[in-house]
Amino acid sequence: KRPAGAPDKDLARKVQKVGVIGAGLMASQFALLFARKLRVPVVITDLDQARVDAGIAHIRGEIEKMHEKGRLSRDAANQVTALVTGTTDRKQFADCDWVIEAVFEELGVKQQVFGEFEPILREDAILATNTSSLSVDEIGAHLAHPERLVGFHFFNPVAVMPLIEVVQAARTDDETLATAMTTAKQLGKSAVITADRPGFVVNRLLAKVMGEAARALDEGTPLPVVERALGPIGLPMGPFELIDLVGWKVAAHVQDTMVGAFPDRFYASENLHALAEIAEPLDKNRHGKVTDLSKAARKRIRV
Ligand code: 3HC
Repeated sequence: KRPAGAPDKDLARKVQKVGVIGAGLMASQFALLFARKLRVPVVITDLDQARVDAGIAHIRGEIEKMHEKGRLSRDAANQVTALVTGTTDRKQFADCDWVIEAVFEELGVKQQVFGEFEPILREDAILATNTSSLSVDEIGAHLAHPERLVGFHFFNPVAVMPLIEVVQAARTDDETLATAMTTAKQLGKSAVITADRPGFVVNRLLAKVMGEAARALDEGTPLPVVERALGPIGLPMGPFELIDLVGWKVAAHVQDTMVGAFPDRFYASENLHALAEIAEPLDKNRHGKVTDLSKAARKRIRV
């Protein structure tokens, strides 16, 4: 018997071609995962050729690392490399049956992107959003077919983190949900269905930790002290190293969403925004580990 809320997996469709909108850190990581695990063509796009090229370069670098570590044979590495292509020509998305976006974490931007793409796409293409905390229903508010939109939330680093949150919006239909669950499993991840609520499940918890870490900063505890103090409680990374990994702007946006939704339960930190402003231009290598960012950012605002 199926667990309550889980769709009938016979409804799932087999994904044959993936379109990825956005070529940034998250998008390029999961574009690679789709190609590696599903072995289907993956096309990625972004605002301009430079962003597309950076995404493709990152993906190729990761494929080579996997080959060097013995995780992909030369043949497999070549095959996966050939499967991922970059373009600024949206028409190349016309035959994709799974289209996922990871553009800037702002409602209007995501609505606009889907609005621009929907007329180009197949009528039966499934649309997925990698939003961290925005409402999937609101993202799909202006779609002609919102029933084919689902949240599909990856975690950083995508290759390593075992979970995908599959977000069932009010209008997501069973076929879309079943395809999302089956696809997540084919990607080698465990998948949980979450309701379309701010922060879903994971960021609801994470925003608490980040918020309290930021509150400690605001109250004058130096950043390295907060970072070190939280190590022994068993987190794999300190809160600020984790923000370095996911991106300061993303973290600040998640915090804003949670504070907006639950002002009495989440903490709005001015330092978090100040750090995000500073971190942005410092993050020269959009796809690398930004290991020194906390240190550099900290010097600027003396935390
Ligand atoms: N890309 C690909 N692989 C990576 C990677 C990356 N960015 N970072 C680490 N890895 C791989 C390494 O290659 C290594 O693989 P190997 O065993 O084959 O060599 C493996 O992960 C372990 O890495 P390390 O030995 O270098 O380091 P650690 O053991 O310290 O693990 C970590 C690194 C897995 C990143 C660990 O510190 C961790 O789990 N951190 C917490 C990450 C986390 O909480 N992510 C969720 C963030 S929230 C989010 O993304 C949602 C958004 O909405 C905000």
